[in-house]
Amino acid sequence: MKGLILAAGRGTRLRPLTHTRPKPVIRLAGKPIIRYAVENLLQAGIREIGVVVSPDTQEDIRQALRNCLPADITYIVQEQALGIAHAVGVAREWLEGSPFVLYLGDNLFQKGVQPFVEAFRPGVGAVIALVRVPDPRQFGVAVLEQGRITKLLEKPKDPPSDLAVAGVYVFSPSILEIIANLKPSARGEYEITDAIQALMDQGHTVLGQEIAGWWKDTGRPDDLLDANRLLLVEQKSPTPVVEGQVEDSKITGRVVVEKGATVRNSTVLGPVHIASGALIEGAYIGPFTSIGPNARVRQAEVEFSILEEGAVVEDVPLRLHECILGVGARVTRRSGLPKAHKLVLGDLSSLELA
Ligand code: G1P
Repeated sequence: MKGLILAAGRGTRLRPLTHTRPKPVIRLAGKPIIRYAVENLLQAGIREIGVVVSPDTQEDIRQALRNCLPADITYIVQEQALGIAHAVGVAREWLEGSPFVLYLGDNLFQKGVQPFVEAFRPGVGAVIALVRVPDPRQFGVAVLEQGRITKLLEKPKDPPSDLAVAGVYVFSPSILEIIANLKPSARGEYEITDAIQALMDQGHTVLGQEIAGWWKDTGRPDDLLDANRLLLVEQKSPTPVVEGQVEDSKITGRVVVEKGATVRNSTVLGPVHIASGALIEGAYIGPFTSIGPNARVRQAEVEFSILEEGAVVEDVPLRLHECILGVGARVTRRSGLPKAHKLVLGDLSSLELA
């Protein structure tokens, strides 16, 4: 069994964060999202992993996956983003007729992918991970009868069930032949959902299996914050793990202070992750916050937030809550007159002033 992670998407719903970087490299609870995918595949016994990347963002993905041993990673470039089935088609040669786990690189699974790999057996066309959601209209939706999927629809206006397709599929190589002959959908993409429907139409068994634990598709900013929260809660030690420098500070609960990070004259209430090189000084860091490498929070309060690498929050009088700061983004106090907000916001940035 091989693993194929898709990481070539444009992440349009996460702009401006994804103007400069692909979504799977955003760090949650101390790690790029895509590393959780690799770890889940390794945990399921899959070491041979293909990662489909786009020409523009492949370098970021390679960086994020450095030193992922014992994974044996091959990068496969998808020149044009023409849908999930297209990405699988691009990987055809690398797959060499092996069954494979298809893993959407922006999806997170609390309990990993092993149950789906175990449910796959010779003679089965595919195993699809399913999850019950209150509003399935933004997902693939399955009709399940005694463990078998009988119908699959992509983002239906009128969903036939509440079973959404989560981003993990186990396929027999038969899917590749179908993908080679697939027609694009109305939105111009080669849909994996159409390919699976065709697999069923040809008489193959497609099993649906509900996921255990939580699942998160990190499509929108709120999903990122929530995924970060869920991952932080998973941190193993219920008490602080301090490898960095902590001086005159109060650290409580599930808090990781990585080697090379400094916390000074501050209060940190977990779950919180503080990455290497970060500086927290005269600050309050509240629950569900990830502070990226070399980020800085001084004389400020931050909670339920994600600060990416090198982000800065300094001398800000009001607490930041539910904030996502991209790489090198800065929120600081403006001194002098006029007493006004001064902003430089990239395209499609959002700002809510209290
Ligand atoms: C894709 C699939 C959809 C699935 C979803 C899970 O949608 O097309 O069937 O439910 O991933 O994350 P996308 O997120 O690419 O719109």
